[in-house]
Amino acid sequence: MKSLAKHRRHPAAVLVVIMLGLLLTGGLYAAANTATEARSVEADALLIEEGKRLFLEGCSSCHGLAGQGSDNGPSLIGVGAAAVDFQVGTGRMPLANFGAQAPSKAVEYTDEQIRAIAAFVASLAPGPSIPSAEDLDFTGVDVARGGELFRANCSQCHQAAGRGGALSNGQYAPNLMKTTPEHIWEAMLTGPQQMPVFADTTLPPQDKKEIISYIESIRASDDPGGWALGRFGPVTEGLFVWIGGMLLAVILAVWIGAKVR
Ligand code: HEC
Ligand code: HEC
Repeated sequence: MKSLAKHRRHPAAVLVVIMLGLLLTGGLYAAANTATEARSVEADALLIEEGKRLFLEGCSSCHGLAGQGSDNGPSLIGVGAAAVDFQVGTGRMPLANFGAQAPSKAVEYTDEQIRAIAAFVASLAPGPSIPSAEDLDFTGVDVARGGELFRANCSQCHQAAGRGGALSNGQYAPNLMKTTPEHIWEAMLTGPQQMPVFADTTLPPQDKKEIISYIESIRASDDPGGWALGRFGPVTEGLFVWIGGMLLAVILAVWIGAKVR
C-alpha cells in the first residue's frame, strides 16, 4: 500500500493515467462508432426501400419505374439527392402542370419522406448530395465577399437585390427571399432549368457559404421602413436626394421671389 502511494506521486504516473484514459475512451469511441455505422447502413436500406415505394407511387408516371425518364419527365439517374431535396422540398415536384417552368408551391411530402425519395434516387447513381450540417454552418463567414460573388455569379438573373427577374421564353429567375439556405445550396449544386450548375470545382463550398450568408443578410435587412427605391444602392439613393433637393430649392426660390414682389 505504502509503495503504491509512492509510485502514485512519481511524475510518470500522471502520464500512465492519461495514456490509459486516452486508450480507453478511444476504444470506446471506435466501438460506438462502428455500432452506429452498422445501424445507419441498415437505416439507409430501409429508407431507400421506403423512398422507392413513394417514388413508384408519386413520380414514376413521369420519371419511369427506374427513374430512367419518359416522354413526360427527364431521367433522374445521377441527379443526386440534392436535386430531389430541392425539387420536392420547394414544391416544384411532383409537377402539377406542364408549362414553361415548374413553379414552387405547397410541399406535398414530409421531410422524412423527402429524405427517403432522395435516398432512393441517390441509390440509382452517384450525384450531388444534400448539404451537411457543417456545410450550413455560417459562423465567421465573410458576408461582404459573398456580396461580390453574388454580383459576379447570380445577379445577372436574380437581380442585385435577389428579388428575381424575367428571362426569355416565359421563364423567370425566382425571388430568393423565401428560399432556405439548404435549398439555395442545392440550387447552386444542381442548376435547375436555365440556371447553370455551380459545382464545387468552380464555386468551392466556402464561396457557397458566403453567397448564402449574403442572401440571408439582404433578407434580414428586408425593408427596415421607408422606400426601398428598388434597392439599387447609393446611385439611386443619391439621385433621389439630388432630384428631391433640386425640387425643394426651386420651390424655395419661387417662394422667396414671391415674397419680394
Ligand atoms: C407530371 C409529371 C411529373 C411528376 C409526377 C414528377 N415529375 Fe419531376 N419532373 C418533371 C418534368 C417535366 C421535369 C423537368 C422540368 C423542370 O426541371 O422544371 C422534372 C424534373 C425533376 C427533377 C430535376 C431533374 C434535374 O435534372 O435536375 C427532379 C429531381 C424531379 N423532377 C423529381 C421528381 C420527384 C422526386 C417526383 C415525385 C415526388 C417527381 N419529380 C414527379 C415531371 C414530373
Ligand atoms: C442564367 C440565369 C441564372 C443564374 C446566373 C443563376 N440563377 Fe438561380 N435560378 C435561375 C432560374 C431560371 C431558376 C428557376 C429554376 C426552376 O424553377 O426550375 C433559379 C432558381 C434559383 C433558386 C431557387 C429559388 C426558389 O424558388 O426557391 C435559388 C436559391 C437560386 N436560383 C440561387 C442562385 C444563386 C445563389 C446563383 C449564383 C451563384 C444563381 N442562382 C445564378 C436562373 C439563374
